[in-house]
Amino acid sequence: MSDRPITLPTFSMQGKVCMVTGAARGLGLEFCRAFIESGCTSLIVLDLKESEAKAAADELSALAIEHFGYEAKEVKVIGIACDVSSEPSVKLAYATIMETFGRIDAVVASAGIVENYSALDYPADRAKLLFDINVHGVFYTAREAARNMIPNGGGSIILISSMSANIVNIPQLQTPYNASKAAVKHLASSLAVEWAKDNVRVNSLSPGYMMTKLTKTILDKDPELKSTWERLTPMGRMGNPEDLDGAIVFLASDASKFMTGSEIRVDGGYCVL
Ligand SMILES: NC(=O)c1ccc[n+]([C@@H]2O[C@H](COP(=O)([O-])OP(=O)(O)OC[C@H]3O[C@@H](n4cnc5c(N)ncnc54)[C@H](O)[C@@H]3O)[C@@H](O)[C@H]2O)c1
Repeated sequence: MSDRPITLPTFSMQGKVCMVTGAARGLGLEFCRAFIESGCTSLIVLDLKESEAKAAADELSALAIEHFGYEAKEVKVIGIACDVSSEPSVKLAYATIMETFGRIDAVVASAGIVENYSALDYPADRAKLLFDINVHGVFYTAREAARNMIPNGGGSIILISSMSANIVNIPQLQTPYNASKAAVKHLASSLAVEWAKDNVRVNSLSPGYMMTKLTKTILDKDPELKSTWERLTPMGRMGNPEDLDGAIVFLASDASKFMTGSEIRVDGGYCVL
């Protein structure tokens, strides 16, 4: 047997400095795992609470060392507290990243929230908070990434949108969320055009129903809903976070180096119905 690598070398995240927001749990944490599994050893975990970001960073360091056989001195995974809805907080996080690593190559904006109210009853302050996190937070995260990537020759930014950018979910009511995710998808396309000449690529990744704390909170209030979601999904199941591993590594790595302004949907076929 040949000892050639069994995947295209362009999919490797080796030597790249990566950062993920909302990475203490859920999809963000899984994106970090996928990067480690693809050879990344310089990683920044951003989340609201420092204790949770640092605990996730420790877990990821241990994964790299114990499971994937890296030496401890090769691995640098740090956890930083950051509220993405606050531009000063985002700027401070990037200042720490640049001080610690000197560059940033791949950024995933995964922090986001969902709440379910009818539009007629949605409290204005809750809708504002959702847009501050899901839209403005993604904008600050992407803009600060580009500001730091451009002087170093470019990079890849992935904005986590949702299938809700393309369809209206039923039966649960979530108009501001759906609108926020459509905004994220179009932010990716628009920023991609602005930064294309600087070799900063911006794409969006739109998951369908994935099993995380975000969806579990909704399902705990309405156990019947899970079978409704499964019935509406052609593949007949919810996604597991690791179902997104291939797409996130593709978008973050050089495997997608001529791709910008695109959306990848990973939704078990939901949107084609
Ligand atoms: N789970 C799904 O089915 C699904 C489907 C489509 C899209 N998405 C999107 O994927 C992303 C991740 O979702 P998830 O399921 O992992 O959610 P989750 O609730 O499990 O995790 C979200 C993380 O973001 C963090 N966060 C929230 N507000 C923040 C803020 N202001 N600053 C920094 N961090 C903050 C939370 O602390 C948490 O760790 C979200 O943008 C979500 O809209 C999820």
